[in-house]
Amino acid sequence: SFSRKLTGKTVLITAGPTYEAIDPVRFIGNHSSGKMGFSLAEEAAKRGARVILISGPTALKPEHSNIDIHRVTSAKEMANQVFNYYETCDFAIASAAVADYAPEVTADEKIKKKEDHLTLNLVKNPDILKAMGERKKNQILVGFALETQNEVENAKEKLNKKNLDLIVLNSLREAGAGFGHDTNKVKIITQNSEKSFGLKSKKEVARDILNCIEDEFLK
Ligand code: C5P
Repeated sequence: SFSRKLTGKTVLITAGPTYEAIDPVRFIGNHSSGKMGFSLAEEAAKRGARVILISGPTALKPEHSNIDIHRVTSAKEMANQVFNYYETCDFAIASAAVADYAPEVTADEKIKKKEDHLTLNLVKNPDILKAMGERKKNQILVGFALETQNEVENAKEKLNKKNLDLIVLNSLREAGAGFGHDTNKVKIITQNSEKSFGLKSKKEVARDILNCIEDEFLK
């Protein structure tokens, strides 16, 4: 049996990649599978939460009937959906791999191949999680970090900069962890705790994350 501590709570989760259109047939994207976010959504729903899942393009489908899915394509669409629901949620978990930049203009027609060089101008996308931190009232806010150096130090800095309550540090060095894989290896960091976990399935990682959230913030 599992915890039902999230009964009556609303949990907003972002998942998957975003696609930033170059023209009608091309985009800038990344290899995020959405598995971490969908695992968190299933686990939170099993524990009694009403889940609002805002997902970029992925082949995954939610299973639990307590999950309301809102599918989006770009970072701007994701931001709009997040802020439609943010005020009503008790917990927000940002697991989406949002593209940092988008093409400044999207061509109306397919771009023809011509010269040897083609320059795309990119502009910064909104940092959705940072904006959630700025607008935070009573929500417990959870983010992810993927660092290549001074991992813990940089994750703690992100925790403070984005006004988060908890940050999940993904290990990049571990084989089988992170993007596209079914497994992940994480450290879970709050203002007053730091826990390391072994390589596990993303389903198990979702349980570890929700256990930590319940222990720290649902006493
Ligand atoms: O700053 P960085 O991209 O490393 O932060 C990662 C965290 O911020 C993740 O939780 C990710 O979902 C979130 N994020 C976001 N919007 C962005 C960039 C990152 O919500 N544009």
